[in-house]
Amino acid sequence: MVHMQVPFYRHSLAPENSKYVAKVLETPFLTSGPISKEVEAQLSEYFGVKHAKLVNSWTNGAVATLLALDIGPGDEVIVPAMTFIATANVVELVGAKPIFVDCDPDTLLITPELIKAAITKKTKAVIPVHMYGQMCDIKAIKEILPKDQKISIIEDCAHTFEAKFRGERPGKHSDVSIFSFYATKNVTCGEGGAIVTNDSNLFERIIQAILHGMSAGAADRFKAGQYKHWGMDHLGTKANLPDLLACFLPGQIESIDARLYLREELAQRYEKALKDSKILFPSINSEAIHSRHLFPIYVGIEVRDQALLKLGEKQIGATVNYRSVTSMNFYKNKYELSREKFEVSETWGEGTLTIPLFESMKEEEQEYVIDILINEISPMIGKS
Ligand SMILES: Cc1ncc(COP(=O)(O)O)c(C=O)c1O
Repeated sequence: MVHMQVPFYRHSLAPENSKYVAKVLETPFLTSGPISKEVEAQLSEYFGVKHAKLVNSWTNGAVATLLALDIGPGDEVIVPAMTFIATANVVELVGAKPIFVDCDPDTLLITPELIKAAITKKTKAVIPVHMYGQMCDIKAIKEILPKDQKISIIEDCAHTFEAKFRGERPGKHSDVSIFSFYATKNVTCGEGGAIVTNDSNLFERIIQAILHGMSAGAADRFKAGQYKHWGMDHLGTKANLPDLLACFLPGQIESIDARLYLREELAQRYEKALKDSKILFPSINSEAIHSRHLFPIYVGIEVRDQALLKLGEKQIGATVNYRSVTSMNFYKNKYELSREKFEVSETWGEGTLTIPLFESMKEEEQEYVIDILINEISPMIGKS
């Protein structure tokens, strides 16, 4: 097999896309203006929801959402242990307490049963994460929430845009869904994100929360040529997405469903090739359409770091998604968390690594990765 270099990720934005930036420069709005409004309308239509707002990251969008929901000190928010740290960090940032729960050992998704067991009188929200691109069963989660207590469901859609569960996209059963357009996501503008919701009152609060708490945005302050005073009734942050970045999104959103088969084919090729090896991967519900954002594998605790070194030696980009949030010193020490309570997440987090998967991956690149996995990594497993 010829030795080659395979990056972890290669984006698909071509230099020709700079024409979109040129178009923005012709308008007076470098920040959020007419292009953002167009994309927001496109997002509302795509997800079949009443409202959409672009934000400059999932993280800032989530902080704004928690502020808009009046979640803060004294409140609890249920989050999975198996996720990226941002899911829990946003809860900390508004002064609330993240309550971690473990995940299903097959899909690595949070489940209604695990959430139910973590609910207390202080619970104000739950943030299910559609890990790696597979959606959690939000309808089932909604059904187990107590009827006499308001617990908001905030979907963490950072790993998915185009996924479906039982034919439904994110946003249908939750209070609010938040997306990420970070550099490696299936829809990207480098840094960015979006919030979608059907709740008009919450949306009004979110609009203010992403702009310092101001009651009118820059474009709206000059409506009809007249300056309009703005006020501030609630605390906000700064999380709006500028048109200079929003301009990269319309074409990608338009083509995302048609492009899904490219990553699906790559993922299925990995699954077929690794089926009879000692390498494991999460299972996929038969009713799910997976967005194939990441392809994590499990090689085991004894082998993982050695495998990362070997892949590095072979010039294959690999990362870890993720070590359990409950294993991070900040959370472990602050909340005196013990490993046993998060057995599945901690074990997966110590033995997993993620291999390259991106739309422009060439067949020979994938064959090279598969060859190294089968002939160098799989034989390491179960030896020590
Ligand atoms: C599950 C999850 N949630 C939230 C985030 C944060 O997204 P952003 O970088 O847009 O803030 C990420 C980032 O990759 C993520 O993986």
